[in-house]
Amino acid sequence: MPIKSTQITTKDEYLSHWQMAHEVPQEFWAKAAENYEWMKPWDKVQSGDFNDLEIKWFEGASLNITANCLDRHLKTRGDKTAVIWESNDPNEAPIKYTYTELHAEVCRFSNVLKEKGIKKGDRVCFYMSMVPELLTGVLACARIGAVHSVVFGGFSAQALAGRIQDCQAKMVITCDEAYRGAKTIPLKAITDEAVESCDTIETVLVRERTGGSITYKEGRDYSLLPLIKAAKDDCPPEEMKAEDPLFILYTSGSTGKPKGLMHTTAGYMVWAGYTFENVFQMEENDTYWCTADIGWITGHSYITYGPLLNGATTIMFEGVPTYPDAGRFWDIVDKFKITHFYTAPTAIRALQACDINLVRKHDLSSLKVLGSVGEPINEEAWEWYNKEVGKERCPIVDTWWQTETGGIMITSLAGVTESIPAHATYPLPGVNPVLVDSEGKTILGNPGEGNLCMELPWPGIARTIWGDHKRYKETYFTTYPGKYFTGDGARRDDKGRYRITGRVDDVINVSGHRIGTAEVEDAINEHPAIVESAVVGYPHEIKGQGIYAYVICQPGQEETAEVLKPQLDALIMKMIGPIAKLDFILPVSGLPKTRSGKIMRRILRKIAAKDGNNLGDISTLLNPEIVEEIKKGAGL
Ligand code: WTA
Repeated sequence: MPIKSTQITTKDEYLSHWQMAHEVPQEFWAKAAENYEWMKPWDKVQSGDFNDLEIKWFEGASLNITANCLDRHLKTRGDKTAVIWESNDPNEAPIKYTYTELHAEVCRFSNVLKEKGIKKGDRVCFYMSMVPELLTGVLACARIGAVHSVVFGGFSAQALAGRIQDCQAKMVITCDEAYRGAKTIPLKAITDEAVESCDTIETVLVRERTGGSITYKEGRDYSLLPLIKAAKDDCPPEEMKAEDPLFILYTSGSTGKPKGLMHTTAGYMVWAGYTFENVFQMEENDTYWCTADIGWITGHSYITYGPLLNGATTIMFEGVPTYPDAGRFWDIVDKFKITHFYTAPTAIRALQACDINLVRKHDLSSLKVLGSVGEPINEEAWEWYNKEVGKERCPIVDTWWQTETGGIMITSLAGVTESIPAHATYPLPGVNPVLVDSEGKTILGNPGEGNLCMELPWPGIARTIWGDHKRYKETYFTTYPGKYFTGDGARRDDKGRYRITGRVDDVINVSGHRIGTAEVEDAINEHPAIVESAVVGYPHEIKGQGIYAYVICQPGQEETAEVLKPQLDALIMKMIGPIAKLDFILPVSGLPKTRSGKIMRRILRKIAAKDGNNLGDISTLLNPEIVEEIKKGAGL
């Protein structure tokens, strides 16, 4: 039977589409791809698998993603608002771009990049706050075939430098300073420091935002806005091959330095567009707001590409949820009559802890759909979100996915499939999840619990780790050969619906930000008095997980947690950024180790969670006596 459309409007359709995507994936994704404009059609919809790791989608085709985000809408939606930018300061006027205006602005920005020597395939790094030029700049790169790599504005100079060096970017685009609530962050000064150790950087473009005092280096640094203003508003989209890189985005893993996940053009486009359409179920005059930062994958796929591919109106917010007060989100919902609101559990929990009148005094009647992303949402936060924000009439989509997956993987579909508290629920068509036990055996039947893997490639999967395909293979495909291992644990209920329980590896999810324990340990170990450290996550009321550090001091240089805290945080701020600051420090005289010298993190996680009774078998430890000491130190 020919596939009529890939748009899902009923639960039965969801079920039949999932089957079709499973049984005849090539036909199914060819149909989804028909929604877009291609410069050349594909020869083959999909090839490669999780054994050869030569995954390709729409091979042979050529296209430009911005032609699909912008040009494709000009005839039918030219005057429709594409982007509304809301300032950190509620009294500053918002900036609106229609699709026609956004198209022109992206063309101008593209011409600036070209004038400054950026060519197809070059890497351009963004280190900005949420100013409109972050969104237009990313699209300008895609328009001329340059590869964007956005670094979140909260990372340190050293972290930024590491990313620039890894992808060998030729240009950094930054701001003079960022506004963040009542604070400013000196982005240009941090960039200057970072670029000192980056010899590939030829140009630095500066979007002046606060007017703070900065220095321009002659011949390297230029003020961005005058260049954009002077540029021509016509720039034809570059013809890109389906598997040409679109962007690199760095994320933390269990070991080593952050990994530059590389996403390619056609598969990512189809996945971002398809998932946005079916998960959020927007109507033409709806207004969508995702509160993420474009520095993270959520801002790539669901502020920028997904909404624009669908011709939606997307909001971009510069500020923070608590400035000028903790009612800011609800103020913005009311101001723009937001219909679709997508945020993170950490924000929900933080706002839940504030005066309820900050929510209740705003008119939230425009809302139709609520979304959650970034970490498991606990039932209490889910219920509060449903009751106080959604007034029990808005479906909640709890969307599970990752930087690696490019787009949403497991979720309910707004108003189409059921939303249940704290459950991501169903895999999208094209997503083939399996749960495996620690031996790698697939858990069959429902209910079940295990480590979450994917059996088959979907269009949006990251194709490699930039410059290190071997690491890509080792990180994701060797724990369970032939399967993509997500790093998450999950439960499946008797109806086959998934509930994500959280990371099972050494990644901590702090306020929805992925932090590798090894990176934090590396920073702590720089301290001259520290011999060794072990960092684990523990349950934290607002942040989801907090960072708990066990540290061993040099004999004779023992220090209290109070003394160590500012010193260790300073090192973390220097090497990573404020997002990885410690929540708890416990000085200890030793760490529980196996006979082969490996730290038994399982025990440390339990103690950090104040669960000292079920530590399991500790008799195989090299130093079982240390466990009692650590428990005592932790107050257990
Ligand atoms: C976690 C963010 C439970 C998970 C899009 C995953 C979630 C990691 C959910 C990826 C959710 C994300 N329920 N956990 N709805 N969404 N996660 O790469 O642990 O920043 O592996 O991508 O966040 O984080 P990343």
